[in-house]
Amino acid sequence: MKAVTYAAYGTPDVLAVSEIPTPEPGPGEVRVRVHAATVSSADVTFRRGKDLMARMFTGLRKPKRPVLGTELSGVVDAVGEGVTRFRVGDRVYGATGDAFGAHAEYVVLPEDAAIAPAPEGVDAAGAAALAEGTLTALPFLRDVAELAPGQRILVNGAAGSVGAAAVQLARHMGAEVTAVASARNAELLRSLGATRVIDYGTTDFTALDERFDVVFDAVGKSSFGRAKRVLAKGGKYLTTVLSPGILMLSAWTRLFGRKRARISLTGLRKPAQKVADLALVKELAEAGALVPVIERRFPLDEAADAHRLVETGHKRGHAVLTMAAAA
Ligand SMILES: NC(=O)c1ccc[n+]([C@@H]2O[C@H](COP(=O)([O-])OP(=O)(O)OC[C@H]3O[C@@H](n4cnc5c(N)ncnc54)[C@H](OP(=O)(O)O)[C@@H]3O)[C@@H](O)[C@H]2O)c1
Repeated sequence: MKAVTYAAYGTPDVLAVSEIPTPEPGPGEVRVRVHAATVSSADVTFRRGKDLMARMFTGLRKPKRPVLGTELSGVVDAVGEGVTRFRVGDRVYGATGDAFGAHAEYVVLPEDAAIAPAPEGVDAAGAAALAEGTLTALPFLRDVAELAPGQRILVNGAAGSVGAAAVQLARHMGAEVTAVASARNAELLRSLGATRVIDYGTTDFTALDERFDVVFDAVGKSSFGRAKRVLAKGGKYLTTVLSPGILMLSAWTRLFGRKRARISLTGLRKPAQKVADLALVKELAEAGALVPVIERRFPLDEAADAHRLVETGHKRGHAVLTMAAAA
């Protein structure tokens, strides 16, 4: 099968489209013929290998797993002995977790991995995109922020993968959404449910004369120290980006003060939790409450270009690899 592989950390030029053996499912495993898979900012971080914490997962000296890619959609094309959850021909979407491997024509996963029936009426690229954004945004908003109807939320980095999902989910949860992005994304964000869009090029949201129950920084470009000014009493500041500072602030604000800082490592949740979320996201997408936002689709052969787009830090929604099987 064809797969995007890398043998060393570095620029997108380290990526190669290679022929590698097609994996066979063992007992309790399913093989998914991948139709689409996102290239996420995590894939870019793992490919670069500059982050020591990331190398703990991917290999200290060189990559341990040659194929990146986590969020995918496709069709179950073979099942191992004893599999009961899926049958050949099922359309599925979800995430491979720390096994990676989605940037390939096939991937083998345990049947209890974070995959679930794909939403009807959403194409393969859209389903993979929905999995990427929502599997982070949903646990942040529902479990960490405990967002309630009528609350005011500000989403920073609202036009990215996590942000675009967060705007839609927050709106669905009945919150009033203020989105922060560059001016070119204002119309998109209004169409996704933001009541107001702030252009970070001209306005610093931390200087606003308003208060929010939740500030969700989906791209980790702000800080609790500055953002707490615009938090209401009891308000929560959430960031997706892990740092020693946010870990300390999270512990500190659990004990002291009325405004809290939080981080969550949503990618490390149990597959069963993600399966439940994928079922909810399927319902919301089928009801039209969630739409995938895709900046560009790339054939597998152009994976390096997809990495280059993600690396800009300014993609709109998602970058998705589409495989020949999706045609
Ligand atoms: N904690 C977890 O478990 C977890 C899980 C998944 C992802 N993450 C992390 O979450 C982060 C966000 O991921 P993502 O995939 O959503 O990123 P992304 O799609 O690459 O974000 C791109 C977006 O960021 C916006 N942006 C760039 N600079 C900005 C700024 N200064 N202010 C406001 N918006 C800005 C851009 O908007 P404009 O083009 O309008 O500038 C663009 O739309 C990554 O660091 C990722 O590693 C964490």
